[in-house]
Amino acid sequence: MKFDILTSSPAQTTIDCLVVGVHDSGALSPLGVAVDRKSGGALMRFLAHGDFVGRLGETLLLPAFRGLKCSRVLLVGQGKLEVSRRHWRKALTSAVAALAKTRVRSAAIALTRPATRDLDDYLYTRSAVEAVSAALYRVNDLKSGKKAPPPALEVIKFAGVRPSSAAAARRGVVHGLASANGAKLMRDLANLPGNVCTPTYLGEQALALAARHDRIKVRVLDEAEIRAEKMGCFLAVTRGSDEPPKFIVIEYKAPRAARAPVVLVGKGITFDTGGISLKDPGAMDEMKFDMSGAATVIGMMSVVAELGLNLNVVGLVPTCENMPSGRAIKPGDIVTSAAGLTVEILNTDAEGRLILCDALHYSRRYKPQAVIDIATLTGACVIALGHHHTGVMTNDDKLAAELVESGLRADDRAWQMPLTDEYGEQLRSNFADMANVAGRDGGAITAAAFLGKFTEGLRWAHMDIAGSTYVGGAAKGSTGRPVALLSDFLLRRASR
Ligand code: BES
Ligand code: MN
Ligand code: ZN
Repeated sequence: MKFDILTSSPAQTTIDCLVVGVHDSGALSPLGVAVDRKSGGALMRFLAHGDFVGRLGETLLLPAFRGLKCSRVLLVGQGKLEVSRRHWRKALTSAVAALAKTRVRSAAIALTRPATRDLDDYLYTRSAVEAVSAALYRVNDLKSGKKAPPPALEVIKFAGVRPSSAAAARRGVVHGLASANGAKLMRDLANLPGNVCTPTYLGEQALALAARHDRIKVRVLDEAEIRAEKMGCFLAVTRGSDEPPKFIVIEYKAPRAARAPVVLVGKGITFDTGGISLKDPGAMDEMKFDMSGAATVIGMMSVVAELGLNLNVVGLVPTCENMPSGRAIKPGDIVTSAAGLTVEILNTDAEGRLILCDALHYSRRYKPQAVIDIATLTGACVIALGHHHTGVMTNDDKLAAELVESGLRADDRAWQMPLTDEYGEQLRSNFADMANVAGRDGGAITAAAFLGKFTEGLRWAHMDIAGSTYVGGAAKGSTGRPVALLSDFLLRRASR
């Protein structure tokens, strides 16, 4: 797919299909008005029949009208005149879904944009490319039947860019494409089943990334090397599994920047049964998504390399399975973390924090400017925030504010939850430095508080993506979040 911008009127453009927004008041999108004028009012005369009412997400493909240089017009319902970021994205997604069912090869998007203060020309094209790519994403499924042919769509042009900001809009396209490719890579990995996407497989994917990009170096530590790092908590989780664990280190070296790196740490549980504290069978299959943090990190390293970002970035991925077996850890077992702190494992299903604490400790050797871990860490976060926001917890409110702001800019939203001392105190153990769980209440935060005991002196934020990174139900699958948020964050860090 090729993306481009259009600074001239779409009504004058030679293209297969013009995509015009229609509001439920009967009004056309501003660029649609020009199209209507060019067609001698034919568009408005058609709408007067009342067949198309402009309901958000509604679409209708029409043959072109005289006076236009296209062969079709796609009407897209945009609902209210005041277009929110979310509604714009929804209309764009419906438009792309409709186009993908046709033989249209090139389309110009002339929808009503959200207010400029929400979306300047740079963010407009960046978000548009991200949204279109996400809409065209097809699960790389393992169905044996014949695959549907790929859409004919080859070129999409975003109209309504002011000539004076053409350069910014082109930059938006480039950034959006890198971010979209990272999200696609992430979704492909996260959607794979646990018997395919093993820790070994994730290591191979990281190595493949290094083969594609000169600036990326990858090391995949095996169990003996993980033991040499004294990662006792990580090793405790993998004990019950026959799949070998891996600790993946992905380093991106910026062309110029000599500054301290940003370290991204991703939870890579390729399947979470809960271990001896076994989970309920209902929806347990969704625990194949428990490596979405790892997939995010691998996706982000691809974004960073594709952009040639002027910022050093390190990705750390502890990855293993959480399985019950005769060798598995048991409730009450006590293990020693790489940091030297001892942990009483009261619930083997709270395994994410155990692999992350050793990875967070490993990040210290980079003397990082910031460490961000990304994890499907708790069901409690889903209870607290639902599926719309990623949870952010931190020991550095400025870092959290940056992440929340990036979430707004990228329309991949996050919400900060408090992380005060009381929560950490709930992890007290009679037998070890701490327990790995602290009861149900405030479960997302006590999980973060556990990680917080390993990040003293680091500028650290934890992102709980359990609710935001995949959807269940009929459209079950990875959402690609929070790649867009983190792309914005790293782009801004690189330019400051
Ligand atoms: N991977 C789960 C968290 C999770 C739950 C992610 C639902 C996505 C959807 C994690 O390892 C886990 O099992 N957490 C426990 C913690 C509890 C034992 C303190 C949980 O949330 O129930
Ligand atoms: Mn678990
Ligand atoms: Zn888990």
